[in-house]
Amino acid sequence: MAADGAERGLFIVFEGGEGAGKSTQVALLAQHLAATGTAVVLTREPGGTPTAEAVRTLLLAPATEPMSDWCEALLFAAARADHVAKVIAPAVATGQVVLCDRYVDSSLAYQGFARALPVEQVRTVSQWATGGLVPDLTVLLDVDPALGLARARDGNRMEAQALEFHQRVRAGLLALAAQEPDRYLVLAADRPVPQIADQVRTRVAALQSATPPARGATT
Ligand code: TYD
Repeated sequence: MAADGAERGLFIVFEGGEGAGKSTQVALLAQHLAATGTAVVLTREPGGTPTAEAVRTLLLAPATEPMSDWCEALLFAAARADHVAKVIAPAVATGQVVLCDRYVDSSLAYQGFARALPVEQVRTVSQWATGGLVPDLTVLLDVDPALGLARARDGNRMEAQALEFHQRVRAGLLALAAQEPDRYLVLAADRPVPQIADQVRTRVAALQSATPPARGATT
């Protein structure tokens, strides 16, 4: 139970490489939950608050000058700190289901595995930013970057990285999921949208019916 007596909600994150179909799936799940009477907050990273959206613009605009790797990692973490403090944590504490398009694993995969910053240091920074808030479930939509990039080019600064960079992102995300198989749902994203949506709903329904002490974690 949360401090005010409301039952704790759920925090569900969608991760994946470029063009994996996260935005579609997160929106479908939000519609489904709302239709079944669940209070849902749909949000994304980087972003989710006015300050974090301003940081997003800085991070994703085509580069006017190269940004140092730690500058990039710290800006993602700064945006996340505002987002968690003002949106995610309060909503979960008051019993809502928060669906977030990307979270800490994106930093570990893009800034850690792909940019080659030490993953454990990126993780530590993320823990400061989030106060240790860990998702109840992370849905990883896995797609071959060659396919994903072909179907999702919007030209942002991260997307413009070489294919090899995106292959490291993919390997990083799969490695993170393999470390905690119970907390991840890994789905091949090159399948029909309704089929994927169905698997996501089934898993979320199971989570919703789990007893509160069995879920929810901070580190
Ligand atoms: P976005 O247009 O939201 O991409 P997508 O639709 O694939 O989620 O851009 C977000 C980009 O920022 C994406 O390339 C992943 C990257 N990113 C990081 O590198 N680190 C992070 O911590 C986060 C949240 C995103």
